[in-house]
Amino acid sequence: MKAWQVAELGEPRDVLQLTEVDDPVAGPGQVLVGVLAAPGNFPDVLLCRGQYQIKPPLPFTPGVELCGEVLAVGAGVDRFAPGDRIVGTANLPGGGFAELAVLDAENAFPAPASLDDAEAAALVIGYQTSWFALHRRTRLLPGETLLVHAAAGGVGSTAVQLGKAAGAKVIGVVGGAAKADYCRALGADLVIDRHTEDFVPIVKEFTGGRGADVIYDPVGGDAYAKSTKCVAFEGRILVIGFAGGTIPQPALNHALIKNYSIIGLHWGLYKQYDQRAIHDCHAELTRLADEGLVKPLISERLSLADVPDGLGRLGDGETVGRIVFQPGI
Ligand SMILES: NC(=O)c1ccc[n+]([C@@H]2O[C@H](COP(=O)([O-])OP(=O)(O)OC[C@H]3O[C@@H](n4cnc5c(N)ncnc54)[C@H](OP(=O)(O)O)[C@@H]3O)[C@@H](O)[C@H]2O)c1
Repeated sequence: MKAWQVAELGEPRDVLQLTEVDDPVAGPGQVLVGVLAAPGNFPDVLLCRGQYQIKPPLPFTPGVELCGEVLAVGAGVDRFAPGDRIVGTANLPGGGFAELAVLDAENAFPAPASLDDAEAAALVIGYQTSWFALHRRTRLLPGETLLVHAAAGGVGSTAVQLGKAAGAKVIGVVGGAAKADYCRALGADLVIDRHTEDFVPIVKEFTGGRGADVIYDPVGGDAYAKSTKCVAFEGRILVIGFAGGTIPQPALNHALIKNYSIIGLHWGLYKQYDQRAIHDCHAELTRLADEGLVKPLISERLSLADVPDGLGRLGDGETVGRIVFQPGI
């Protein structure tokens, strides 16, 4: 089969090579799929650079989530059968930017019938991350104000939709006019373009001076620092990622003085500590998708050949919304 491989670490455009490799085989507890769709995620960029918390042995194929058609199941797998359409997280070093992939059955779920292949593939990491962030690590309440940074991005776009589905007022901060349009299409109540506006006074004005109750931050750096200026009394700042490249050093005296919480979220850890919760979350996301309350908004449906350029643009912060690679295109 054909697979994009990283044999030495670096920028995606420089190090990804399309390679002919042996077809993978499903071992015990595993599922072999023909890949139908695999979204680009910032962690794929970090994997290529060697900056992700997981460092697969070289050479590896990135592509952390996918939708696929089951071709074979390994011993002990009774939840799936050949022909099923499933979504899930791939087994690195064999990721989803390939014609075939193997998943551990416990990390795979039925694809919602209401979503096409690209949409279903994008229902996993981003939505799971935001679900756990907003409903488990933080208890977002109806009527509260949720501020989302990088709100037209992979995880940010899911926080906008899940925030609206939870009955919150949602403010999205984005970089540029195209991302602002995308964020409005997601349903945000207020969109702020960080290229032309300072979000701090706008958030204060929108909330009558109170500030945002929950702030969802996949960016870090200035986005975090300025968030502390407009977080509400008893507000919660969710630390999701550092796409801006700078890991903030919080001032704990400030958190004390203003009565706010700084809450970390690493979704992948739930695979280790509470796998059941991940399955329950998928059932809830499927219900929300079937009821039309969430729907991944795919901005680019690309071929497998487009992976290096797509990931390059994702790493540069230039992509709008979800980009998905489909071997069949
Ligand atoms: N905690 C978890 O469990 C978890 C799970 C998944 C992902 N993540 C993390 O969440 C972050 C976002 O991932 P994603 O896949 O959703 O990516 P993404 O949001 O699609 O892309 C990153 C966005 O960050 C913003 N940004 C601001 N400064 C940037 C800079 N200097 N360089 C690049 N981007 C910049 C850009 O949006 P604007 O221009 O609109 O500001 C850009 O589009 C990553 O750090 C990822 O590792 C964490």
